[in-house]
Amino acid sequence: MLSELLASREPEIPPETFEIIGRILKARTGFSLDGYKDQCVKRRINIRVRATESPSVEAYSALLTEDPAEQERLLRTLTIHVSHFFRNPSTFDKLAAETLPELLARRSPEPVRILSVGCAAGEEPYGMAILLAERFADQLGRGLFQLRGCDVDQNVLAAARAGLFHPDRLNQVSAERLTRWFTGQGAQYELCGEIRSLVTFYQADLNDEVACPESDLILCRNVLIYFERGRQEAILNRFADALGPGGMLVLGKSETIFGSVRRRFRTVCPVERIYRVL
Ligand SMILES: C[S@@+](CC[C@H](N)C(=O)[O-])C[C@H]1O[C@@H](n2cnc3c(N)ncnc32)[C@H](O)[C@@H]1O
Repeated sequence: MLSELLASREPEIPPETFEIIGRILKARTGFSLDGYKDQCVKRRINIRVRATESPSVEAYSALLTEDPAEQERLLRTLTIHVSHFFRNPSTFDKLAAETLPELLARRSPEPVRILSVGCAAGEEPYGMAILLAERFADQLGRGLFQLRGCDVDQNVLAAARAGLFHPDRLNQVSAERLTRWFTGQGAQYELCGEIRSLVTFYQADLNDEVACPESDLILCRNVLIYFERGRQEAILNRFADALGPGGMLVLGKSETIFGSVRRRFRTVCPVERIYRVL
């Protein structure tokens, strides 16, 4: 409701200007607007129109053509990197108590391949790494887990590799965990090398067929909401292919399996949005 109200107050972006902005972005940053919800993208373009004090969206589009720094800023505004460690803590508890033991039993002696898609600055896969180090230290030591994180945005991936976090990314981290796995670095916290070394990051666009390697557990939380239904369905189908029968998928709290993809997944936990491939 609120988003509809906000959208109705936004200045209109004529289709031809919208298309030009999309083309500039694709040509200069490689990022495609294809498949994203139009209203969501337009609202974010308007944020940059206002921030740059452009008199019109056409003037903004001209600025965008000439200014690589603005191209990066628009990309960052569009890709929305809100995240924090142990977002929805009960999901991590459920994974540790049920999903990971099940996958270990099924895969052993091969590693359980975990992929965090749309991983932002690494908060989600690093949270998983901490969980594994705390609850599955023995199996981790025996190489029974493999952890990867991917995102479309190179800047957030660079931040992920640096492993430095502002306290607002850590507000769900207990004092005990903070002391054990982080050290203060000025106004930020540095994640220890032991945990950082457990995650491999790579750049991938969910719109590309190749974005998803074979995996046993995919976490894709708070990413699909930005895509149109048809694109969400295509991505979910690709997840099912990458996981194979028995593989598990975790979505965000406002995301779900729907339409024709329902035939490919069984709901394991509706509250935590955990699904198993049939
Ligand atoms: C709101 S954050 C969610 C982060 C994390 N999954 C969580 O739930 O806390 C969305 C992330 O998805 C990434 N993203 C957006 N579009 C993408 C795409 N086409 N391919 C891969 N990642 C994408 C953004 O760059 C951003 O880091």
